[in-house]
Amino acid sequence: MILIGFMGVGKTTIALKLAELKNKSFVDLDELIEQSRDTSIPNIFKDEGEAAFRRYEYEVLKEAVKKDIVATGGGIVEYPPSLDFLKKTSKTVVFLNADFDTLYKRIKNDTNRPNAIKPYEDLKKLYDKRNKYYTSVADIVINNDDELNEVIHKILHLEI
Ligand code: S3P
Repeated sequence: MILIGFMGVGKTTIALKLAELKNKSFVDLDELIEQSRDTSIPNIFKDEGEAAFRRYEYEVLKEAVKKDIVATGGGIVEYPPSLDFLKKTSKTVVFLNADFDTLYKRIKNDTNRPNAIKPYEDLKKLYDKRNKYYTSVADIVINNDDELNEVIHKILHLEI
């Protein structure tokens, strides 16, 4: 299973919980990138730019699918090779969605997320654009406006 969706929607939290409950292996792409580059995501954006980050993200995605559950970063759909990979993968792609204002409250001014340091209107546009991409590759859409336990309940029966 591959979890996709906007920043702050809870991809990592839910992936971890699922992995624990179903005794499955789990990997988080942001973590893999930081490990493989030996630096933080804000530093990669600052020193090498977002385009380089997207290439690294694609490289780790290809490796990560060996694990049962993969949590992606919200911008993965921005890079055509990654988008294409998500379209073609045999894994179940789950789009976690939530209301923009809920996400905005969670992510605004988060300095660990370079793309969250944007005005409300710009982030809303990014959200709308990406939601089309997420929808285009998702096998299933789950709303994460509810309590964590309810969301887990909705996903638990899905094939990993
Ligand atoms: C990004 C989302 C982040 C991380 C990076 C870029 C984005 O992951 O990959 O900061 O462009 O939306 P999360 O979705 O886990 O915050």
